[in-house]
Amino acid sequence: MTDGPSHDDLQDFLTDLDAELRAEADWGTPAGYIPELADVAPDQFAISVALAGGRVISAGAHDTRFSIQSVSKVFTLACVLGRIGDQLWRRVGREPSGTSFDSIVLLEREQGRPRNPFINAGAIVTTDALLDGRMPNLALSEIIGFLRAASEDADIHIYAAVAASEERTGYRNVALANYLASHKNLFNPPELTLGTYYHQCAIAMTTDQLARAGRVFAGLPDAPRMISTERARRINALMMTCGHYDGSGEFAFGVGLPGKSGVGGGILMVAPGRASIAVWSPGLNRYGNSQVGTRAAERLARFTGWSVFGG
Ligand code: DON
Repeated sequence: MTDGPSHDDLQDFLTDLDAELRAEADWGTPAGYIPELADVAPDQFAISVALAGGRVISAGAHDTRFSIQSVSKVFTLACVLGRIGDQLWRRVGREPSGTSFDSIVLLEREQGRPRNPFINAGAIVTTDALLDGRMPNLALSEIIGFLRAASEDADIHIYAAVAASEERTGYRNVALANYLASHKNLFNPPELTLGTYYHQCAIAMTTDQLARAGRVFAGLPDAPRMISTERARRINALMMTCGHYDGSGEFAFGVGLPGKSGVGGGILMVAPGRASIAVWSPGLNRYGNSQVGTRAAERLARFTGWSVFGG
């Protein structure tokens, strides 16, 4: 196993990768079901790699903010586990679902206990647990506070227009939340939990900020110490098995790093002990994960030899 390339070699690789990907014709399609995201130009790309020692090496539109969407679920999970620990697992499982991120199918078969905290049903329960009878602003400021502290950057905010846009068209999430409530697996009013969930998904960040925030899962020695090594290991395991929904097997096969995707086109990846990586390109593949972002992740993993399954 290699420790990876020098900073200069990595910078050259990322610069070339950006140029190569820009020449690609097939960018995928931005998420259509959230009107505010459907309007984002698909031919955009950014990549940032946060390394031990504090360096962030980037290429492409790494200063452009995008909607992190489901990538937020990893940070909400970290916040909830910090508050209630293993009690969360009474309400949510830790198995891959093999179904799309917004599927309701298993929820009926499994009595309202979602398979994992990353599919929408499981993320709604996780947000509900963080809310815990409080005002939504308190739960949201906990998530934003975590992101700001982890990235050591206070300039992280919520795009209210994206949350409002999803609130108007989030029919499937309304169905999931009500189904969960019918099984008594939602403790707050569905509209309150969903409102909180839509706002957490509408957090906007650059790939530089996201890569820096992910250092807490990569266990980089100089990252803020916000979660224990054991917790980071478990969250990484969930990202590997469930972070890309029914595309998780393909992502493990092609990239070999724990990762969490979002329909805004972002992907956060963790190379334990080595780096935290964020990519962004808003066009999606058939699983709802960034098409060009996934391709970039595959090439980076091959170049660095950072796959957790061997170099
Ligand atoms: O709840 C939703 O549908 C969105 N706010 C988030 C879904 C998402 O990002 C799925 N990821 N690829």
